[in-house]
Amino acid sequence: MPQINPSILSADFARLAEEAKAVEGADWLHVDVMDNHFVPNLTLGVPVVEALGRATDTPLDCHLMIEDPDRWAPAYVEAGAGSVTFHVEAAAAPVRLAREIRAKGARASMALRPATPIEPYEDLLPELDMLLVMTVEPGFGGQAFLDVMLPKIRRTRELIDKHGLELWLQVDGGVSDATIERCAEAGADVFVAGSAVYGAADPAAAVRGLREKAAA
Ligand code: DX5
Ligand code: ZN
Repeated sequence: MPQINPSILSADFARLAEEAKAVEGADWLHVDVMDNHFVPNLTLGVPVVEALGRATDTPLDCHLMIEDPDRWAPAYVEAGAGSVTFHVEAAAAPVRLAREIRAKGARASMALRPATPIEPYEDLLPELDMLLVMTVEPGFGGQAFLDVMLPKIRRTRELIDKHGLELWLQVDGGVSDATIERCAEAGADVFVAGSAVYGAADPAAAVRGLREKAAA
């Protein structure tokens, strides 16, 4: 079954608890952590992740768009995240970091910016529970889906299958009714959607609609 992870980045930050509850029924709540250094935007950190964890029963999928994730990622597991994604471009020791995230009890996930290829990381895949292929330049919601990422999604799926791995393949950025089928066809199975969910009149219905399209 495809998983749909609404991104709280596109929600009303003044009403985070209600916005988190509005998408109960989604698989995970995607929480974008940005530090104004790795990306040109600043969002939220550990205290807000802890508060979101208290506000919803949906598990938290934390996407860290930050420098020095080796130092900061473990605190997000302690704050209650069920999955923690770091960017390989920012990590000094991705294997050590993935093992630390797993040892602390969360799913370990690694993200690739659009210009980062998957091939150099083939041997790291067994260390991960999820691989995130960004389909926009990270930093902002509401950007247009990058079609040129479809071959990378396909190649990543081939590598996962070649090694018989269980890891999930997530896509993030510009995922909507118009693009989700292409992502699913290319081999993605976890779909982050910000504006396509929180921009809809009924966010919970938007999640169901995306899941149906991805499964078709
Ligand atoms: C972008 C974030 C995304 C963003 C997606 O850097 O990582 O999670 O919220 O928003 P949409 O779905 O609107 O592209
Ligand atoms: Zn994200």
